[in-house]
Amino acid sequence: MCGIVGYVGRQTAAPILLEGLRRLEYRGYDSAGVAVLSGSEMQLRKKKGKIDEGLAKSLQAQPLAGQLGIGHTRWATHGPPSDENSHPHLDQSGRMAVVHNGVIENFDRIKERLMEAGHTFRSATDTEVLAHLIGDHYEKLKGDQSEASVRLTQAVLSALREVIGTYGIAVVCTDAPGIIVGARRGSPLIVGLGQNENFLASDVNAVVAHTQQVVYLNDYDVVTMTADRFDVASLGADTAKVQISQVEFSPEAAERGKFPHFMLKEIFEQPATVRNALRGRIDSDEATAKFGGLNMSMAELREVDQIVLTACGTSWHAALVGEYLLEDFAHIPVEVEYASEFRYRHAPLEKHTLVVAITQSGETADTLAGLREAKRRGHKALAICNVVGSTIAREADGGIYLHAGPEIGVASTKAFTSQVTVLTLFALLMGRLRMLPVRRGMEIIRALEAGPGQLESILQQNERIKRIAQKYARAQNFFFLGRQHGFPVALEGALKLKEISYIHAEGYPAAEMKHGPIALIDPNTPSVVLIPSDSMYEKTLSNLEVVRARNGPVIAIATEGNATIAKQADDVIYVPPTLEPIFPLLAVVPLQLLAYHVAIERGCDVDKPRNLAKSVTVE
Ligand code: F6R
Repeated sequence: MCGIVGYVGRQTAAPILLEGLRRLEYRGYDSAGVAVLSGSEMQLRKKKGKIDEGLAKSLQAQPLAGQLGIGHTRWATHGPPSDENSHPHLDQSGRMAVVHNGVIENFDRIKERLMEAGHTFRSATDTEVLAHLIGDHYEKLKGDQSEASVRLTQAVLSALREVIGTYGIAVVCTDAPGIIVGARRGSPLIVGLGQNENFLASDVNAVVAHTQQVVYLNDYDVVTMTADRFDVASLGADTAKVQISQVEFSPEAAERGKFPHFMLKEIFEQPATVRNALRGRIDSDEATAKFGGLNMSMAELREVDQIVLTACGTSWHAALVGEYLLEDFAHIPVEVEYASEFRYRHAPLEKHTLVVAITQSGETADTLAGLREAKRRGHKALAICNVVGSTIAREADGGIYLHAGPEIGVASTKAFTSQVTVLTLFALLMGRLRMLPVRRGMEIIRALEAGPGQLESILQQNERIKRIAQKYARAQNFFFLGRQHGFPVALEGALKLKEISYIHAEGYPAAEMKHGPIALIDPNTPSVVLIPSDSMYEKTLSNLEVVRARNGPVIAIATEGNATIAKQADDVIYVPPTLEPIFPLLAVVPLQLLAYHVAIERGCDVDKPRNLAKSVTVE
């Protein structure tokens, strides 16, 4: 949700900023821009549209000199995508430029005050107001005898004290042509440390090609950096805590490689990412799971009498899978809460309620707020998270990393299967702490260990799934139906399809259809029915028949070996046999591929779907 980069060093800044922005484009792609200082000249370039359509062409036609600059790729919040509303924004003097990720909630009031003082604004954005505000504070410090660089940091600090809202920002000023000032509150920002050069970015993907050493800034940190050093001050009461970390993945992991899209690459990575999520976490002797970072004793885990799983989007669907697993294995009551609702709802929680935030990015604003709310109420709050060093990972009392590597496709795929894997292990641990028998524990472990190989065999059906996708790609509506463990997968299949192909799709519990939605079934509305050979098979089959009786086309996701289903469905995609609770791990993959190929067939940009951005850092 908006990406920021900054570079100061000995190299020409613009190509480095452009490359960094390309690596952050999944965070927003409405427009992009850079501000580069050449001596004391401010050079601004900003264009509506995706980076390669606008900014890159402009920089190619007229390159910018200068070894210091900031850049931004935008996901519009205030004001539609346009050249004017693109970042960077200048202050009133035109000597200061600001890029911003977040929302300034009190921008209207500040704008009014500044307009009364004679400021004029060119855009509809809250960011331009912030730029003017910092500029205003800077002007007021002019009488001060200190150097321009010191005054710039001071101006940022004092301006931010007036601001309500969230921000990750980078600021440059022609009076101090060797420094970049960055700050964060609620939006991520990291410093990349190089040799005679330093970087600022919304996430490590943007800098990993240049350096593996990073500092994850904390909320209220304000960093001042030159090519050779960086200093961190804090807007909060505490002094800033600075820790240098090593990035845990290679630059190649953030590349598309031989795949046409990140989404397809990440779908195909799943056998490996599920293996990574399992590695070192199985205790076969005790038929249970073990985790290094929960920071809870077995006695504390044993005391938990309610679990709240809170998340958004695809991670929320993984949470729903987790609910079925935890209730099945451990008989603990589980609530699955949309983080955006949970944060404001006064849900009564038991004394020993454990709250688990599930998030790929670790930066989702609503999930972060949900986690903070749980902690404020005195509950233990864990995180199941992919991005190491992210805000949620750091603020949680403990947690489990997915180790899935960077997920760059805007539609989440490998994070989901890793979340489901980790939740299965966690449910196994909680079950074994209660009454789950050893024999059942071992069955679950064996099924999980077979998962990566089974995923490989599903991926081999890619061409077949593509042909099925081509057959149905012109449909305008889709249903996804499943029961029990298959129901959250139906929701996830529908979300994948709608977000990248723009086809209206609904996920439903298969038996719920007859209570209304069945009115929508007609020969042009395909239903994807999840129908494993499990304890619900006959019941799901009769739900499928009800759809067929209304001439609705059916694509069945069935268990290998079920030959009869081919007579009852128009098309069948088979998944290998597994335990009922492990079915979601396998069944989601054909749905990811189906959505991918439908979107390609319709000419959609699957890695940059319209209106979306990954890592939603606004409310
Ligand atoms: C859908 C998708 C989103 C995210 C949601 C939560 O494909 O990617 O629905 O799942 O925005 O994001 P995280 O997991 O980063 O908190």
